[in-house]
Amino acid sequence: MTMQPWFPDAKLGIFVHWGIYAVDGIAESWSFYNGQISHEDYMKQIPGFTASAFDASAWASLFAEAGARYAVLTAKHHDGFALWPTALSSLRTERDLVGEYTAAMRAQGLRAGLYFSHLDWSHPDYASVGSGDNRFAYPPPGQEDPERWERFLAFHRGQLAELQERYAPDLLWFDGDWERSAALWRMDALREELQGRQPSVVINGRMQGFGDYATPEQGVPIDPPAGPWELCLTINDSWGWQESDTNHKSVRQLVRVFAETIGGGGNLLLDVGPRADGSITPEQQVRLRGLGSWIRAHAPAVYGTLRGLPPGHFNGATTLSADRRRLYLFVFDRPNEYVVLRGVRSTVTGVRTLAGRPLHHTRFGGLGEVPGWEYIYVEDSDLDPLCTVLEVALDSPLETYRTHTRD
Ligand code: GLC
Repeated sequence: MTMQPWFPDAKLGIFVHWGIYAVDGIAESWSFYNGQISHEDYMKQIPGFTASAFDASAWASLFAEAGARYAVLTAKHHDGFALWPTALSSLRTERDLVGEYTAAMRAQGLRAGLYFSHLDWSHPDYASVGSGDNRFAYPPPGQEDPERWERFLAFHRGQLAELQERYAPDLLWFDGDWERSAALWRMDALREELQGRQPSVVINGRMQGFGDYATPEQGVPIDPPAGPWELCLTINDSWGWQESDTNHKSVRQLVRVFAETIGGGGNLLLDVGPRADGSITPEQQVRLRGLGSWIRAHAPAVYGTLRGLPPGHFNGATTLSADRRRLYLFVFDRPNEYVVLRGVRSTVTGVRTLAGRPLHHTRFGGLGEVPGWEYIYVEDSDLDPLCTVLEVALDSPLETYRTHTRD
């Protein structure tokens, strides 16, 4: 798997869960799957999905202000409702929302990604053996109706061809692969087909081993995946817009998750849920802008950096410059006089806050190859209210000391 370099350098993407579920403000697709509402009543939301205030350029400038370098829009969620005028289904918008979105993102210099659910709980051939109340169920192993499954696969491939031919998405963000095996989905052939049409398209990991990167959800792994990855995270507790969900993360919490994510070598894909008319609530906007102004003030520690130190060296997240000679320390807590960096073999030649003040630092302990403790003295006046970043200059590319190898 070769990864397009823009992706690990991007650091922040905005995920957009927008669909007919925003009309009643219920859970995307899962609400009918779980029986909270009937499939019929769920579909009654369609006429209310007006997009009457949808302004793709306003979204694009908001996302750029957030510091994002890409976005991912739900072109089709598990409910099967397409946000583009697909020729292959009547569950669709007449207006080309996906087209407006991709054009506006690109005009703003952002990469345009599309979320696409492999499974489709509304397609008559998807369940392949289900009917009536069981229409969303997938067949037990060995009971697949091969003809129906072939028809479904042709539809699935057909919609993806439409998306690629019309919009040439920079990223295809798949979901909903779990009800069938890689062999039934023919994931290997799918990957080839997608790359045949667009050799440089980035493909997320929900491809049962045939994607480009891992997609942890809602929590930063302490031991991050070794390869490229991206954390998707809701801004409150819901993917789509739900009026009663006011449990928004604070800007400080978002900055922290973001720093932990990039420190582990990942991207953050922060989700917003626009209303049915396409407007994004002020509560969500304020948080995107707040995150963006912090990122702008700390850009050298963010864009183009590499994953930082593994846990144990520093009490907080860290990133590393591409030449490995500058470490960025993210200080979340109020230090008691100093912060400590441990297990770094390269000599520290200077420390400054990203705001520019040089900080006093001393090393004590250590012996030969074994580094000691680097004390970095921080004053209250150096602290950023959201998260302070210290830039540590090294005399040579970063080398660490982690284990004792002799008896
Ligand atoms: C979860 C949700 C799904 C959402 C996805 C995004 O799997 O169930 O609705 O689209 O997360 O990663």
